[in-house]
Amino acid sequence: MKLFENIAQARRKKRSKKFEEQARRNHALRMEYMISDEVSFAIAEAFRNFKASLAVSIPKRKTEEGVAIMMTSACPEDGKTTVAVNLALMFAMSDAKVILVDADVRKGRVARYFKKRSVPGLSDYLSGQATLDEVTHPAAESERLSYITCGTHSPRPYELLESDEMKALIKELKQKYDYIIIDTPPLLLVSDGLAIVEEVDGSVLVCRHETTYVSDIARSLNKLEFAKAKVLGVVVNDYHARANTSKDNRYQYYSYCYDTDEEMNK
Ligand SMILES: Nc1ncnc2c1ncn2[C@@H]1O[C@H](COP(=O)(O)OP(=O)(O)O)[C@@H](O)[C@H]1O
Ligand SMILES: [Mg+2]
Repeated sequence: MKLFENIAQARRKKRSKKFEEQARRNHALRMEYMISDEVSFAIAEAFRNFKASLAVSIPKRKTEEGVAIMMTSACPEDGKTTVAVNLALMFAMSDAKVILVDADVRKGRVARYFKKRSVPGLSDYLSGQATLDEVTHPAAESERLSYITCGTHSPRPYELLESDEMKALIKELKQKYDYIIIDTPPLLLVSDGLAIVEEVDGSVLVCRHETTYVSDIARSLNKLEFAKAKVLGVVVNDYHARANTSKDNRYQYYSYCYDTDEEMNK
């Protein structure tokens, strides 16, 4: 028994060391990846599949208004922002009118993908310091894509996100856009994202291959379920296909997988 405990402990230690190393590496590189002509077919195709899966998992709507999707994950560095930015771009490339909203008012990084400053942004609009026009920017990458950066750091992000102004903003954006993609902070660290679950049509949980603990995915799904969020699926980001699994090589282009939550439960 003791031996098993020691082995489990050693494994946990090894994995957390690996996680720290990866986080340090990512932090040092702090690169922003966006789909472009130079990006491999595999990555673009994975996002296209993800977008298509999402489009069919959203229930058919009676009204003409747009669909709001919240991106979340258990921990920082899982890839929420990367997935949110590229998903928004993918929707825009397929003729939809899209807005990406950075609701990570603590450490939002959407602005960096578009080489913009974060201020003024969402928090400034919600606190009445800026108008919606002032915080809405057109993206150079696609004329159908706009974005709102996170704005000035706020000491009370949860209150900002659960405010009537935020509810009204999501409603207004649904009138103007086909898709509203909302990037939020890590679920297991702060509950900011949960403040908007009732306003959005569904949530997507991002996890990172060989980094995110299954237990953290389960805890995040429990949190979302408790808040009555509709979980549309789980994205496995940064998936490393094994080079020597020759039989599966043809599936390597699924670098970003997408599973329904029934699949995840299995
Ligand atoms: N699939 C990926 N391949 C390579 N690097 C990635 C991938 N997804 C995210 N990253 C990098 O990992 C870091 C964290 O990603 P980010 O999207 O900011 O995570 P989060 O929003 O969950 O904190 C960033 O530097 C990002 O460029
Ligand atoms: Mg982020």
